[in-house]
Amino acid sequence: MVLDQLRVPIVQAPMAGGPSTPALAAAVADAGGMGFIATAYASPERIRDGLDALRGRLFGVNLFVPRGEPAPRDVVAAYAQRIGADASAVKWDDGGYEERLSLALGAPAVSFTFGLPEPSVIARVHAAGSEAWITVSTPEEARRAAEAGADVLVCQGTEGGGHRGAWTDDVADYGLLSLLQLVRAEVGLPLVATGGIATREAVAAVLALGASAAAAGTAFMRCPEAGTPGFHRDALASDRPTALTRAFTGRTARGIVNEFMREHSAHAPDAFPEIGQLTGPIRRQGDPERFHLWAGQAHALALDLPAAEVVARLTP
Ligand SMILES: Cc1cc2nc3c(=O)[nH]c(=O)nc-3n(C[C@H](O)[C@H](O)[C@H](O)COP(=O)(O)O)c2cc1C
Repeated sequence: MVLDQLRVPIVQAPMAGGPSTPALAAAVADAGGMGFIATAYASPERIRDGLDALRGRLFGVNLFVPRGEPAPRDVVAAYAQRIGADASAVKWDDGGYEERLSLALGAPAVSFTFGLPEPSVIARVHAAGSEAWITVSTPEEARRAAEAGADVLVCQGTEGGGHRGAWTDDVADYGLLSLLQLVRAEVGLPLVATGGIATREAVAAVLALGASAAAAGTAFMRCPEAGTPGFHRDALASDRPTALTRAFTGRTARGIVNEFMREHSAHAPDAFPEIGQLTGPIRRQGDPERFHLWAGQAHALALDLPAAEVVARLTP
């Protein structure tokens, strides 16, 4: 098992859209932990470059399990009108799932977020010699993932930054402490705990609750190896509050509250990836009040230090 090979029980959580880079994953792996490549939104060439850079190291590749069907057009159009965006080019897609999966096969771990992969997909992961890690946000998802043949459950508490990994967008919001206890009571698989972990005390706490390792996302976002934009780093260093929102992507995610969230969270529909396409041009302008400032609740504890140093500080 990959988890048995870690020198320290620290995983760098996958962070699509820029923050997780191959350099970050490599630095965490070299420090004795495990890094992740996030494939969502990345071109196949970038994914291939990342895989080349990480060969020989302990790492995982993360995939978004696609949602089965497009959102109703009128729902997307109504939100487009509200935010002053053009919906004409918006089109449901599966994010290139098959191509990303093919690239990921053979990595030490392949992790899945937003859904339970098909049995045939889990079989392909195992046939390629990879472990299947499945993100779960409720005890029910944990049970189903275990039955489906997952090797490791990534238990994600609501404290975490970025998208909730939940399989549907309307699930109960479990804090990490409750989730770990409930899952541990029913499922014997190795668990990786994630959400709001920013100190060695928090890592010790999740290990005490039965997790085999802790995965931190936000805690690595200010590292020089991360690809986080400067204005996002500045927001992380503040003590501004976070909240859950669908306003940027049509799927619930946690970010630092800004103007766009305040104006649109109440009206944003459950429509991923369509709403993400719709807001793309707005977000790409790089205005911190209109950008998705993904961050976990403990973001003010993220430090501007090399990743190896962050790993050392997180290690109990
Ligand atoms: C900027 C950002 C991007 C993220 N992208 C992904 C992703 O592509 N896939 C995924 O499974 N989780 C993603 N997440 C969630 C993380 O993997 C992890 O669950 C979360 O960061 C843990 O909480 P923390 O940020 O408080 O450490 C993302 C989180 C952040 C902050």
